[in-house]
Amino acid sequence: MSLFNRTCGVKSAVTMALISAAVGLSACSQSASPDIKAREDIMKSWGDAMGVMGDMVKAPDTFDAAVFKEQAAFLADSADSPWTHFQDESAKGGAMDSVWSDADGFSSEADKFKQATDALNQAAQGASSVEDVQPAFAEVGASCKSCHTEYRAES
Ligand code: HEC
Repeated sequence: MSLFNRTCGVKSAVTMALISAAVGLSACSQSASPDIKAREDIMKSWGDAMGVMGDMVKAPDTFDAAVFKEQAAFLADSADSPWTHFQDESAKGGAMDSVWSDADGFSSEADKFKQATDALNQAAQGASSVEDVQPAFAEVGASCKSCHTEYRAES
């Protein structure tokens, strides 16, 4: 109980117990918000896709054009999907306040990301080696990083 009070400032232990029982989770983690979970799940799958492609970029002789193409297409196809899950300002999750206070900047990062993933997807279509995709891959990585620097609280 003291732990709950310290970490999330819930005043009543009774309320705490009721909420915990209702959602089956620690109520203070905010992981109860379906929006947070949805966008974090997408981001995680992007992290996985970047990992698969990044391994090939690091070890060019392991380049598998079909697998790379699949991952690049996945990113481009899902590039727009997290943003509708950022509408509820009270569902902060691992996002900074700037997502909402600087909504234009956030949406501009999202646009840049879409462009970067489209470019990577295009480069991947005819690629026969890492060299064909490396610059576009680096651009996508830079785009993830740029948005996280400004808008993601946790890393
Ligand atoms: C336009 C902004 C933006 C772009 C582009 C972006 N992210 Fe994120 N990302 C966020 C924000 C904001 C969060 C925090 C979301 C939350 O926890 O509620 C986040 C969270 C994450 C997380 C943590 C998820 C979790 O389980 O807590 C991972 C992993 C991640 N992003 C990977 C990526 C990768 C990889 C890319 C690029 C392929 C990328 N992101 C592109 C804004 C962005």
